[in-house]
Amino acid sequence: MKSFPEQFVFGAATSAYQIEGAVQEGGRGLSIWDVFSHTPGNVKNGDTGDTACDHYHRYREDVQLMRQLGLQSYRFSIAWPRLFPSGRGAVNEAGLDFYKRLIDALLDAGIEPMVTLYHWDLPQALQEAFGGWTSRDTAKAFADYADVVFHRLGDVVPKFITVNEPWCSAVLGHAFGQHAPGVQRLRAAVQAAHHLLLAHGLALEAFRDAALHHASIGITNIVCDNVPASDRPADIAATQRMDALLNRWFLDALLRARYPDALEPFGVAAVIQPGDFAKIAAPVDFLGVNYYQCNVIHANPSDPLLGAAIVPPQGEVTGTGWGVHPEGLYRVLKRIHREYGAMAMYVTENGAAYEDVVDAGEIHDHHRIRYLARHLDAVRRAIEEGVDVRGYYVWSLLDNFEWAEGYTPRFGITYVDYATQARMLKDSAKWYQTVITERSLAS
Ligand code: NOJ
Repeated sequence: MKSFPEQFVFGAATSAYQIEGAVQEGGRGLSIWDVFSHTPGNVKNGDTGDTACDHYHRYREDVQLMRQLGLQSYRFSIAWPRLFPSGRGAVNEAGLDFYKRLIDALLDAGIEPMVTLYHWDLPQALQEAFGGWTSRDTAKAFADYADVVFHRLGDVVPKFITVNEPWCSAVLGHAFGQHAPGVQRLRAAVQAAHHLLLAHGLALEAFRDAALHHASIGITNIVCDNVPASDRPADIAATQRMDALLNRWFLDALLRARYPDALEPFGVAAVIQPGDFAKIAAPVDFLGVNYYQCNVIHANPSDPLLGAAIVPPQGEVTGTGWGVHPEGLYRVLKRIHREYGAMAMYVTENGAAYEDVVDAGEIHDHHRIRYLARHLDAVRRAIEEGVDVRGYYVWSLLDNFEWAEGYTPRFGITYVDYATQARMLKDSAKWYQTVITERSLAS
Protein backbone atom coordinates (compact mmCIF):
# COMPACT_ATOMS: atom_id res chain seq x y z
CA MET A 1 0.00 0.00 0.00
CA LYS A 2 1.22 3.50 -0.83
CA SER A 3 -0.04 5.08 2.39
CA PHE A 4 0.41 8.48 3.95
CA PRO A 5 1.22 9.13 7.60
CA GLU A 6 -1.69 9.51 9.99
CA GLN A 7 -1.12 13.25 10.53
CA PHE A 8 -0.71 14.05 6.82
CA VAL A 9 -3.29 16.60 5.67
CA PHE A 10 -5.08 16.41 2.31
CA GLY A 11 -6.34 19.77 1.14
CA ALA A 12 -7.13 22.01 -1.80
CA ALA A 13 -6.24 25.64 -2.47
CA THR A 14 -7.66 28.80 -4.06
CA SER A 15 -7.02 32.55 -3.80
CA ALA A 16 -9.31 35.53 -3.32
CA TYR A 17 -9.03 37.37 -6.63
CA GLN A 18 -9.16 34.13 -8.59
CA ILE A 19 -12.52 32.97 -7.19
CA GLU A 20 -14.41 35.56 -5.15
CA GLY A 21 -15.85 38.05 -7.66
CA ALA A 22 -18.08 40.66 -5.96
CA VAL A 23 -15.28 43.17 -6.38
CA GLN A 24 -17.53 46.10 -5.62
CA GLU A 25 -19.38 44.58 -2.67
CA GLY A 26 -19.00 44.76 1.08
CA GLY A 27 -16.99 47.94 0.87
CA ARG A 28 -14.04 46.29 -0.90
CA GLY A 29 -11.47 48.67 -2.36
CA LEU A 30 -9.73 48.23 -5.70
CA SER A 31 -6.72 45.98 -5.99
CA ILE A 32 -3.90 46.21 -8.51
CA TRP A 33 -5.46 43.21 -10.27
CA ASP A 34 -8.77 45.05 -10.82
CA VAL A 35 -6.92 47.86 -12.51
CA PHE A 36 -4.52 45.59 -14.41
CA SER A 37 -7.21 43.22 -15.71
CA HIS A 38 -9.40 46.12 -16.80
CA THR A 39 -6.58 47.56 -18.88
CA PRO A 40 -7.02 46.25 -22.45
CA GLY A 41 -4.34 43.86 -23.65
CA ASN A 42 -3.24 42.61 -20.24
CA VAL A 43 -5.42 39.51 -19.85
CA LYS A 44 -6.43 36.99 -22.49
CA ASN A 45 -9.93 37.64 -23.88
CA GLY A 46 -10.18 40.75 -21.71
CA ASP A 47 -11.17 38.52 -18.78
CA THR A 48 -11.31 40.05 -15.30
CA GLY A 49 -11.98 38.79 -11.78
CA ASP A 50 -15.19 40.84 -11.53
CA THR A 51 -17.37 37.76 -11.14
CA ALA A 52 -14.88 34.87 -11.20
CA CYS A 53 -16.54 31.87 -9.47
CA ASP A 54 -18.86 34.15 -7.50
CA HIS A 55 -17.50 32.43 -4.41
CA TYR A 56 -18.27 35.53 -2.33
CA HIS A 57 -21.95 34.63 -2.69
CA ARG A 58 -21.57 30.87 -3.04
CA TYR A 59 -19.08 30.10 -0.29
CA ARG A 60 -21.58 27.94 1.62
CA GLU A 61 -22.18 25.76 -1.41
CA ASP A 62 -18.41 25.56 -1.96
CA VAL A 63 -17.79 24.51 1.63
CA GLN A 64 -20.40 21.77 1.16
CA LEU A 65 -18.50 20.63 -1.89
CA MET A 66 -15.32 20.47 0.19
CA ARG A 67 -17.14 18.48 2.84
CA GLN A 68 -18.39 16.08 0.20
CA LEU A 69 -14.80 15.61 -1.00
CA GLY A 70 -13.65 14.93 2.54
CA LEU A 71 -11.07 17.74 2.41
CA GLN A 72 -9.23 18.04 5.70
CA SER A 73 -7.97 21.54 5.04
CA TYR A 74 -8.77 24.41 2.71
CA ARG A 75 -6.16 27.00 1.77
CA PHE A 76 -7.64 30.34 0.69
CA SER A 77 -6.50 33.93 0.79
CA ILE A 78 -7.85 37.08 2.36
CA ALA A 79 -8.22 40.03 -0.01
CA TRP A 80 -6.34 42.84 1.71
CA PRO A 81 -8.57 45.46 -0.02
CA ARG A 82 -11.68 43.86 1.54
CA LEU A 83 -10.30 44.53 5.02
CA PHE A 84 -8.58 47.81 4.19
CA PRO A 85 -10.15 49.33 1.05
CA SER A 86 -7.34 51.86 0.78
CA GLY A 87 -4.67 49.61 2.21
CA ARG A 88 -4.47 51.28 5.62
CA GLY A 89 -6.62 52.97 8.22
CA ALA A 90 -9.74 51.62 9.86
CA VAL A 91 -10.86 48.02 9.31
CA ASN A 92 -13.81 47.55 6.98
CA GLU A 93 -15.92 45.29 9.22
CA ALA A 94 -18.09 44.07 6.34
CA GLY A 95 -14.99 42.69 4.64
CA LEU A 96 -13.78 40.98 7.78
CA ASP A 97 -17.26 39.50 8.33
CA PHE A 98 -17.11 37.67 5.04
CA TYR A 99 -14.01 35.79 6.15
CA LYS A 100 -15.46 35.13 9.60
CA ARG A 101 -18.51 33.54 7.97
CA LEU A 102 -16.33 31.49 5.63
CA ILE A 103 -14.12 30.30 8.49
CA ASP A 104 -17.15 29.41 10.62
CA ALA A 105 -18.63 27.41 7.77
CA LEU A 106 -15.32 25.57 7.34
CA LEU A 107 -14.98 24.81 11.03
CA ASP A 108 -18.60 23.58 11.14
CA ALA A 109 -17.74 21.24 8.29
CA GLY A 110 -14.65 19.99 10.15
CA ILE A 111 -12.28 21.57 7.61
CA GLU A 112 -9.16 23.32 8.82
CA PRO A 113 -8.65 26.79 7.33
CA MET A 114 -5.17 27.70 6.09
CA VAL A 115 -5.14 31.43 5.44
CA THR A 116 -2.83 33.22 3.02
CA LEU A 117 -2.52 36.94 3.73
CA TYR A 118 -1.11 38.04 0.40
CA HIS A 119 -1.99 36.33 -2.85
CA TRP A 120 -1.19 39.21 -5.21
CA ASP A 121 -4.16 41.56 -4.75
CA LEU A 122 -2.42 44.63 -3.36
CA PRO A 123 -4.75 47.56 -2.57
CA GLN A 124 -4.48 49.89 -5.58
CA ALA A 125 -4.31 52.86 -3.19
CA LEU A 126 -0.89 51.66 -1.99
CA GLN A 127 0.31 51.31 -5.57
CA GLU A 128 -0.71 54.90 -6.16
CA ALA A 129 0.50 56.27 -2.82
CA PHE A 130 4.07 55.02 -3.00
CA GLY A 131 4.58 52.61 -5.87
CA GLY A 132 3.37 49.50 -4.07
CA TRP A 133 6.02 46.88 -3.43
CA THR A 134 8.83 49.06 -4.73
CA SER A 135 8.53 50.92 -1.42
CA ARG A 136 9.30 49.78 2.14
CA ASP A 137 6.11 51.55 3.23
CA THR A 138 4.08 48.76 1.64
CA ALA A 139 5.85 46.18 3.81
CA LYS A 140 4.95 48.23 6.88
CA ALA A 141 1.32 48.58 5.78
CA PHE A 142 1.22 44.81 5.24
CA ALA A 143 2.45 44.19 8.79
CA ASP A 144 -0.35 46.42 10.13
CA TYR A 145 -2.94 44.55 8.07
CA ALA A 146 -1.50 41.19 9.19
CA ASP A 147 -1.55 42.33 12.81
CA VAL A 148 -5.28 43.05 12.57
CA VAL A 149 -5.91 39.63 11.04
CA PHE A 150 -3.94 37.89 13.80
CA HIS A 151 -5.88 39.72 16.49
CA ARG A 152 -9.30 39.36 14.90
CA LEU A 153 -9.08 35.88 13.36
CA GLY A 154 -6.13 34.32 15.15
CA ASP A 155 -8.33 32.42 17.59
CA VAL A 156 -10.03 30.45 14.82
CA VAL A 157 -7.29 30.05 12.20
CA PRO A 158 -4.66 27.41 12.96
CA LYS A 159 -2.36 28.11 9.99
CA PHE A 160 -1.26 31.32 8.34
CA ILE A 161 0.83 31.92 5.25
CA THR A 162 2.21 35.42 4.97
CA VAL A 163 2.99 35.75 1.26
CA ASN A 164 2.28 33.49 -1.71
CA GLU A 165 5.04 33.11 -4.31
CA PRO A 166 6.89 36.42 -3.86
CA TRP A 167 8.97 35.51 -6.93
CA CYS A 168 5.89 35.82 -9.16
CA SER A 169 4.73 39.10 -7.62
CA ALA A 170 8.20 40.59 -7.93
CA VAL A 171 9.35 39.26 -11.29
CA LEU A 172 6.15 38.74 -13.31
CA GLY A 173 4.68 41.93 -11.87
CA HIS A 174 7.69 44.25 -11.96
CA ALA A 175 10.24 42.92 -14.49
CA PHE A 176 8.17 41.15 -17.18
CA GLY A 177 5.01 43.22 -16.68
CA GLN A 178 2.85 40.13 -17.28
CA HIS A 179 1.15 40.44 -13.90
CA ALA A 180 -0.15 43.43 -11.95
CA PRO A 181 1.04 46.13 -11.57
CA GLY A 182 2.51 45.58 -15.06
CA VAL A 183 5.85 47.30 -14.44
CA GLN A 184 8.84 46.39 -16.64
CA ARG A 185 11.90 47.50 -14.72
CA LEU A 186 14.43 45.05 -13.38
CA ARG A 187 15.31 47.34 -10.51
CA ALA A 188 11.65 47.54 -9.49
CA ALA A 189 11.54 43.72 -9.35
CA VAL A 190 14.57 43.61 -7.06
CA GLN A 191 12.99 46.22 -4.78
CA ALA A 192 9.62 44.44 -4.81
CA ALA A 193 11.23 41.10 -3.96
CA HIS A 194 13.03 42.58 -0.98
CA HIS A 195 9.97 44.37 0.31
CA LEU A 196 7.77 41.30 -0.09
CA LEU A 197 10.31 39.38 1.99
CA LEU A 198 10.47 42.21 4.50
CA ALA A 199 6.65 42.23 4.64
CA HIS A 200 6.83 38.55 5.52
CA GLY A 201 9.42 39.26 8.24
CA LEU A 202 7.44 42.11 9.77
CA ALA A 203 4.22 40.08 9.73
CA LEU A 204 6.05 37.19 11.34
CA GLU A 205 7.19 39.54 14.10
CA ALA A 206 3.58 40.73 14.61
CA PHE A 207 2.45 37.10 14.72
CA ARG A 208 5.00 36.20 17.42
CA ASP A 209 3.99 39.32 19.39
CA ALA A 210 0.35 38.25 19.21
CA ALA A 211 1.38 35.02 20.99
CA LEU A 212 -1.12 32.77 19.23
CA HIS A 213 0.34 29.59 20.62
CA HIS A 214 -2.13 27.24 18.99
CA ALA A 215 -1.47 28.67 15.51
CA SER A 216 1.50 28.32 13.18
CA ILE A 217 2.86 30.45 10.38
CA GLY A 218 4.91 30.05 7.22
CA ILE A 219 5.53 31.45 3.76
CA THR A 220 4.89 29.86 0.38
CA ASN A 221 7.48 29.87 -2.39
CA ILE A 222 7.29 28.53 -5.87
CA VAL A 223 10.17 26.07 -6.15
CA CYS A 224 11.14 24.53 -9.47
CA ASP A 225 13.52 21.74 -10.29
CA ASN A 226 16.37 22.97 -12.48
CA VAL A 227 18.52 20.48 -14.34
CA PRO A 228 21.39 21.10 -16.77
CA ALA A 229 20.82 20.11 -20.41
CA SER A 230 24.18 18.31 -20.41
CA ASP A 231 27.15 17.74 -18.15
CA ARG A 232 29.14 20.42 -19.95
CA PRO A 233 30.56 22.82 -17.33
CA ALA A 234 28.92 25.78 -19.13
CA ASP A 235 25.47 24.19 -18.86
CA ILE A 236 26.02 23.33 -15.21
CA ALA A 237 27.12 26.90 -14.43
CA ALA A 238 24.13 28.32 -16.33
CA THR A 239 21.80 26.06 -14.34
CA GLN A 240 23.32 27.17 -11.06
CA ARG A 241 22.88 30.82 -12.05
CA MET A 242 19.25 30.29 -13.06
CA ASP A 243 18.58 28.32 -9.90
CA ALA A 244 19.89 31.25 -7.86
CA LEU A 245 17.49 33.57 -9.69
CA LEU A 246 14.50 31.23 -9.59
CA ASN A 247 14.79 29.44 -6.24
CA ARG A 248 17.64 30.57 -4.04
CA TRP A 249 16.80 34.28 -4.28
CA PHE A 250 13.95 33.58 -1.87
CA LEU A 251 15.03 30.36 -0.15
CA ASP A 252 18.49 31.71 0.76
CA ALA A 253 17.02 34.99 2.01
CA LEU A 254 14.51 33.18 4.23
CA LEU A 255 16.65 30.29 5.39
CA ARG A 256 20.23 31.59 5.19
CA ALA A 257 19.69 35.32 5.78
CA ARG A 258 21.42 36.35 2.55
CA TYR A 259 20.92 36.71 -1.16
CA PRO A 260 22.87 34.49 -3.54
CA ASP A 261 25.93 36.13 -5.14
CA ALA A 262 24.25 35.80 -8.55
CA LEU A 263 21.88 38.59 -7.46
CA GLU A 264 24.69 41.12 -7.03
CA PRO A 265 24.74 42.39 -10.62
CA PHE A 266 21.05 43.22 -10.21
CA GLY A 267 21.77 45.89 -7.60
CA VAL A 268 20.32 43.98 -4.69
CA ALA A 269 22.72 45.49 -2.14
CA ALA A 270 21.10 48.91 -2.54
CA VAL A 271 17.73 47.80 -1.18
CA ILE A 272 18.92 46.05 1.97
CA GLN A 273 18.88 47.99 5.24
CA PRO A 274 20.63 46.92 8.44
CA GLY A 275 18.48 44.48 10.40
CA ASP A 276 16.35 43.39 7.42
CA PHE A 277 17.69 39.85 7.25
CA ALA A 278 17.22 39.28 10.97
CA LYS A 279 13.51 39.80 10.33
CA ILE A 280 13.30 38.04 6.96
CA ALA A 281 15.11 34.94 8.19
CA ALA A 282 13.47 34.67 11.61
CA PRO A 283 12.36 31.04 12.03
CA VAL A 284 9.01 30.07 10.51
CA ASP A 285 6.92 27.13 11.70
CA PHE A 286 6.74 25.60 8.23
CA LEU A 287 7.68 26.25 4.63
CA GLY A 288 5.04 26.17 1.89
CA VAL A 289 6.19 24.78 -1.46
CA ASN A 290 4.30 25.30 -4.69
CA TYR A 291 5.56 22.97 -7.39
CA TYR A 292 4.66 23.05 -11.08
CA GLN A 293 7.81 23.03 -13.20
CA CYS A 294 11.07 21.37 -14.04
CA ASN A 295 13.44 23.43 -16.20
CA VAL A 296 16.14 21.97 -18.43
CA ILE A 297 18.76 24.71 -18.79
CA HIS A 298 21.65 25.33 -21.14
CA ALA A 299 24.27 28.04 -21.45
CA ASN A 300 23.30 30.85 -23.79
CA PRO A 301 26.10 33.37 -24.28
CA SER A 302 23.87 35.52 -26.50
CA ASP A 303 21.77 36.43 -23.46
CA PRO A 304 23.94 39.06 -21.76
CA LEU A 305 21.87 39.19 -18.60
CA LEU A 306 21.31 35.54 -17.76
CA GLY A 307 23.77 33.69 -19.98
CA ALA A 308 21.27 30.86 -19.91
CA ALA A 309 18.13 29.61 -21.61
CA ILE A 310 15.40 27.11 -20.78
CA VAL A 311 14.87 24.27 -23.24
CA PRO A 312 11.18 24.06 -24.28
CA PRO A 313 9.56 21.11 -22.46
CA GLN A 314 9.97 17.76 -24.24
CA GLY A 315 7.59 14.86 -23.77
CA GLU A 316 4.40 14.99 -21.77
CA VAL A 317 2.94 18.48 -21.20
CA THR A 318 -0.22 19.85 -19.54
CA GLY A 319 -2.83 22.09 -21.15
CA THR A 320 -0.70 25.14 -20.39
CA GLY A 321 2.28 23.51 -22.10
CA TRP A 322 4.10 22.89 -18.83
CA GLY A 323 6.19 19.72 -18.70
CA VAL A 324 5.03 16.91 -16.44
CA HIS A 325 7.85 15.91 -14.05
CA PRO A 326 6.64 14.37 -10.77
CA GLU A 327 10.22 13.38 -10.04
CA GLY A 328 11.01 17.10 -9.86
CA LEU A 329 8.71 17.48 -6.86
CA TYR A 330 10.47 14.62 -5.10
CA ARG A 331 13.84 16.22 -5.87
CA VAL A 332 12.73 19.68 -4.72
CA LEU A 333 11.50 18.35 -1.35
CA LYS A 334 14.62 16.24 -0.83
CA ARG A 335 16.82 19.16 -1.81
CA ILE A 336 15.27 21.62 0.65
CA HIS A 337 15.64 19.05 3.42
CA ARG A 338 19.27 18.34 2.45
CA GLU A 339 20.50 21.87 1.72
CA TYR A 340 18.53 23.95 4.20
CA GLY A 341 18.02 21.41 6.97
CA ALA A 342 15.04 19.42 8.22
CA MET A 343 11.90 21.52 8.51
CA ALA A 344 8.15 21.09 8.36
CA MET A 345 6.85 21.59 4.84
CA TYR A 346 3.49 21.65 3.13
CA VAL A 347 3.03 21.32 -0.61
CA THR A 348 0.70 24.30 -0.66
CA GLU A 349 -0.01 24.00 -4.41
CA ASN A 350 0.38 21.43 -7.14
CA GLY A 351 -1.92 20.68 -10.04
CA ALA A 352 -2.47 20.99 -13.75
CA ALA A 353 -4.74 22.60 -16.32
CA TYR A 354 -6.17 20.40 -19.07
CA GLU A 355 -8.79 20.95 -21.72
CA ASP A 356 -11.70 19.44 -19.86
CA VAL A 357 -14.69 18.25 -21.85
CA VAL A 358 -18.13 18.03 -20.29
CA ASP A 359 -19.66 14.76 -21.42
CA ALA A 360 -23.28 14.32 -20.31
CA GLY A 361 -22.60 16.12 -17.04
CA GLU A 362 -19.32 14.29 -16.40
CA ILE A 363 -15.72 15.29 -16.86
CA HIS A 364 -13.38 12.38 -17.44
CA ASP A 365 -10.10 14.11 -16.68
CA HIS A 366 -7.90 11.05 -16.53
CA HIS A 367 -4.81 13.17 -17.40
CA ARG A 368 -5.29 15.18 -14.22
CA ILE A 369 -5.81 12.05 -12.13
CA ARG A 370 -2.57 10.61 -13.49
CA TYR A 371 -0.79 13.92 -12.88
CA LEU A 372 -2.00 14.24 -9.29
CA ALA A 373 -1.41 10.57 -8.45
CA ARG A 374 2.20 10.71 -9.65
CA HIS A 375 2.92 13.95 -7.82
CA LEU A 376 1.32 12.71 -4.61
CA ASP A 377 3.42 9.60 -4.89
CA ALA A 378 6.53 11.78 -5.20
CA VAL A 379 5.53 13.45 -1.93
CA ARG A 380 4.95 10.07 -0.31
CA ARG A 381 8.38 8.85 -1.37
CA ALA A 382 10.05 11.96 0.04
CA ILE A 383 8.25 11.38 3.35
CA GLU A 384 9.28 7.75 3.37
CA GLU A 385 12.88 8.94 3.06
CA GLY A 386 12.62 11.21 6.07
CA VAL A 387 11.46 14.56 4.64
CA ASP A 388 8.94 16.23 6.96
CA VAL A 389 6.08 16.97 4.51
CA ARG A 390 2.88 17.41 6.47
CA GLY A 391 0.28 17.99 3.82
CA TYR A 392 -0.63 18.49 0.17
CA TYR A 393 -3.04 21.03 -1.36
CA VAL A 394 -4.34 20.46 -4.87
CA TRP A 395 -4.40 23.54 -7.06
CA SER A 396 -7.23 24.08 -7.37
CA LEU A 397 -10.53 23.31 -5.72
CA LEU A 398 -12.32 25.14 -8.53
CA ASP A 399 -11.58 26.23 -12.08
CA ASN A 400 -10.78 29.91 -11.72
CA PHE A 401 -9.23 33.12 -13.04
CA GLU A 402 -5.72 32.13 -14.07
CA TRP A 403 -4.24 35.64 -13.98
CA ALA A 404 -2.97 36.86 -17.38
CA GLU A 405 -4.38 33.69 -18.99
CA GLY A 406 -7.92 34.53 -17.87
CA TYR A 407 -10.45 31.70 -17.61
CA THR A 408 -9.00 29.59 -20.42
CA PRO A 409 -6.83 27.24 -18.35
CA ARG A 410 -8.91 25.06 -16.05
CA PHE A 411 -6.92 23.93 -13.01
CA GLY A 412 -9.89 22.81 -10.90
CA ILE A 413 -10.82 19.36 -9.70
CA THR A 414 -14.28 20.93 -9.80
CA TYR A 415 -15.56 22.24 -13.11
CA VAL A 416 -17.14 25.69 -13.09
CA ASP A 417 -19.68 26.57 -15.77
CA TYR A 418 -19.06 30.33 -15.78
CA ALA A 419 -22.38 31.08 -17.54
CA THR A 420 -24.47 29.50 -14.78
CA GLN A 421 -21.90 29.21 -11.97
CA ALA A 422 -22.83 25.52 -11.66
CA ARG A 423 -20.10 23.36 -10.09
CA MET A 424 -19.50 19.81 -11.32
CA LEU A 425 -17.09 17.39 -9.71
CA LYS A 426 -14.58 16.16 -12.26
CA ASP A 427 -13.46 12.54 -12.09
CA SER A 428 -10.27 13.84 -10.44
CA ALA A 429 -12.33 15.20 -7.53
CA LYS A 430 -13.98 11.79 -7.08
CA TRP A 431 -10.57 10.14 -7.28
CA TYR A 432 -9.18 12.57 -4.67
CA GLN A 433 -12.14 11.80 -2.43
CA THR A 434 -11.15 8.13 -2.48
CA VAL A 435 -7.48 8.93 -1.83
CA ILE A 436 -8.51 10.99 1.20
CA THR A 437 -10.82 8.26 2.54
CA GLU A 438 -8.25 5.54 2.07
CA ARG A 439 -5.28 7.77 2.93
CA SER A 440 -3.33 5.95 0.28
CA LEU A 441 -2.74 5.70 -3.45
CA ALA A 442 -3.66 2.59 -5.38
CA SER A 443 -0.40 0.76 -6.04
C1 NOJ B 1 0.58 29.56 -8.48
C2 NOJ B 1 -0.29 30.66 -7.97
O1 NOJ B 1 -0.16 30.78 -6.59
C3 NOJ B 1 -1.75 30.47 -8.35
O2 NOJ B 1 -2.40 31.67 -8.08
C4 NOJ B 1 -1.85 30.05 -9.81
O3 NOJ B 1 -3.17 30.02 -10.26
C5 NOJ B 1 -1.19 28.71 -9.97
N1 NOJ B 1 0.21 28.86 -9.64
C6 NOJ B 1 -1.27 28.12 -11.38
O4 NOJ B 1 -0.54 28.90 -12.25
